[in-house]
Amino acid sequence: MEALEAIRARRSVRSYTDQPVDDRDLNELLRLALMAPTGGMAQAWSLLVVREPTHRAALADIVIEGGGHYFASVRPAQPDHSPEQHAQWGQDYANEVLGSYRHVPLWILGLVVPRDVFPPEDRDKEALADEMSVAFAMENLFVAARAKGLGTVPTVFHWYNEGALRDLVGLPQEIRIPVITPLGYPTEFPVGLPPRLAEIRRPWRTLVHDDTWGNTRA
Ligand SMILES: Cc1cc2nc3c(=O)[nH]c(=O)nc-3n(C[C@H](O)[C@H](O)[C@H](O)COP(=O)(O)O)c2cc1C
Repeated sequence: MEALEAIRARRSVRSYTDQPVDDRDLNELLRLALMAPTGGMAQAWSLLVVREPTHRAALADIVIEGGGHYFASVRPAQPDHSPEQHAQWGQDYANEVLGSYRHVPLWILGLVVPRDVFPPEDRDKEALADEMSVAFAMENLFVAARAKGLGTVPTVFHWYNEGALRDLVGLPQEIRIPVITPLGYPTEFPVGLPPRLAEIRRPWRTLVHDDTWGNTRA
């Protein structure tokens, strides 16, 4: 699949088969990811591939549990639910919609490895540059994966369960995990957005301004 078509066809995939990913495909995707722009050529990044079966099972549990916290925090509780019942609803819902993460053949962690090249007073700017660079690398990977018929989804559910993930992969304290993704063959590739999301997709012309703020193409 060509790059432009892969950009159009990429969708977040949350349902996977356990079909393994070929090593050559994986290596190519990792290499393409790390061809992304990197602020100041700092390469303040690493990709950590989790494939060992007990590790990836543990990682799936960490993500699903984090997803439960996320859903419970952003979705309103039913009026008759106690906070405990709402938290339980979040976990049940995460298990339902993310349960197939337990079959994913591998995960890729997009890591920030600070190089400390900015002066100390500008470390917040450096952090932003580093996180953007990792995001660009992951987007390269998402698009290239789609071109190969592989699914991904930018995932931050581990933010709600980060200590467990850090322990699992033995991460030194200074290294950050802004984003992770499963990588595998989807049960099917979503076409278009689900209706709930399609409804709120803003027409692109309303998001493009010419010359001055407010002068949109809408
Ligand atoms: C910064 C960021 C964080 C995201 N985190 C999650 C996540 O934790 N779990 C998830 O299922 N999807 C996550 N997504 C995927 C979005 O929900 C998805 O991109 C959006 O709904 C549009 O759908 P599409 O990717 O199929 O176009 C994230 C996307 C971005 C850009």
